[in-house]
Parts: sequence; C-alpha cells; structure tokens
Amino acid sequence: MSAESKQIEATEFTNPNFEVLYNREQIQTRIQEIGARITGEYGGKELVLVSVLKGSCIFLADLMRSIDLNLTIDFMAVSSYKDGTKSTGDVEILKDLSNPIRGKHVIVVEDIVDTGLTLSRLLEILDSRGAASIKLASFLDKPEPRIKTELKIDYTGFVVPNKFVVGYGLDAAGRYRNLPFIAIVKNLAELVV
Ligand code: IMP
Ligand code: MG
Repeated sequence: MSAESKQIEATEFTNPNFEVLYNREQIQTRIQEIGARITGEYGGKELVLVSVLKGSCIFLADLMRSIDLNLTIDFMAVSSYKDGTKSTGDVEILKDLSNPIRGKHVIVVEDIVDTGLTLSRLLEILDSRGAASIKLASFLDKPEPRIKTELKIDYTGFVVPNKFVVGYGLDAAGRYRNLPFIAIVKNLAELVV
C-alpha cells in the first residue's frame, strides 16, 4: 500500500464509525434521473430552485447541473425551534429569499425530511407569496419520524431508515457535510468532540 493511500485511509472518508449507505456514483445516478424528470416537467416555465441552507447546498449544486433548462436559484435559512430535542414546528426566517417568487414555479430543495414540521411551515410561508406552483425535492426521505404525514415529497433521492445520517451536505454539529457519500453514524456518542 502506498504512503498516499494510507494517508487517505486516515481521514474521515474511511472513519469506521460510518456505514456508507449510498456512494458517490449511486448519488450521481439518482440525481441525473431526478434532473431528467424535472427537465421534462418544467419546459417553458420560469423555474426557481429554493435551497434551504445549509444542508441542501450540495444537493442543489448537483441537481441544478442535471436540469437542462433556464432556471434561477435562491436561498433561505430557517431555524426551527426545538422543545428539548424535538422540533416544535415554529420556524424563524434567518435569511429570506433575495427575489420575489410571485408567478414563478418553485421547487424547494431540502437535504432531508424527518418530522416534516420545519418544512410544512416553510411551505405555508412560501405559499402565501403567490408562486404559480410549489413542489418539493428532498435528497433524503426519513419517513418513520414523520409527524406531518400529509407532506408530499415530489422528488425524492433516497428513502433512509430512522438512523442519524451524515455526508453530502448533512451534518452532525456542523461537521461531515463534505463527505462525498451518505453514511449512517453507527455510534453517535463517538462523534462528540
Ligand atoms: P424536521 O423535518 O422538521 O424534523 O427537520 C428536518 C431537519 O433536521 C433537516 O433539514 C436536517 O437539518 C435535520 N435532520 C434530520 N435528520 C437528520 C439526520 O439524520 N442527519 C442530519 N440532519 C438531520
Ligand atoms: Mg435542514
């Protein structure tokens, strides 16, 4: 084994506490499929991809390049109020859109839908602003903890089990967003620094 590959093995990319669920190639293949669907469905429409910061930034970057249409992007950041560790569904807008969405066709781009509380509230807020249509693209769907069962995900990357996952934009206390794959954290306590 070369010194170079040993060095790579010593990084977070091969941390034994991660169980890789979907690798780079599987993720790219899936995103190309979603991009092709969106390309087919939004021809001739004014499409805006609204990315919910920070987790969806990597999904947005890949998804937008897989859509063969004119489009614009915008960003929102929200903080969800938690009651202990559970989401309460109250959201505060930390960063709002730069441009109005009135009359536009919006796809909200999320990293993962868990309880769905944050996103349902966000969709209500966006809905009150007169968009021509609003759909939801979520890279991951974790259906088991869903409270807002009526929430419909129009474009889903992968359905994941009710475990804590990191990588491809998703974090644990702000870290691991740069992992090029999606992994289950086997032992969450081990991650605490
Ligand atoms: P909820 O749908 O309101 O419960 O909140 C979903 C948000 O919680 C997501 O946008 C993520 O920021 C975060 N989240 C939920 N599950 C995970 C996970 O497994 N890993 C990392 N972040 C997660
Ligand atoms: Mg998020």
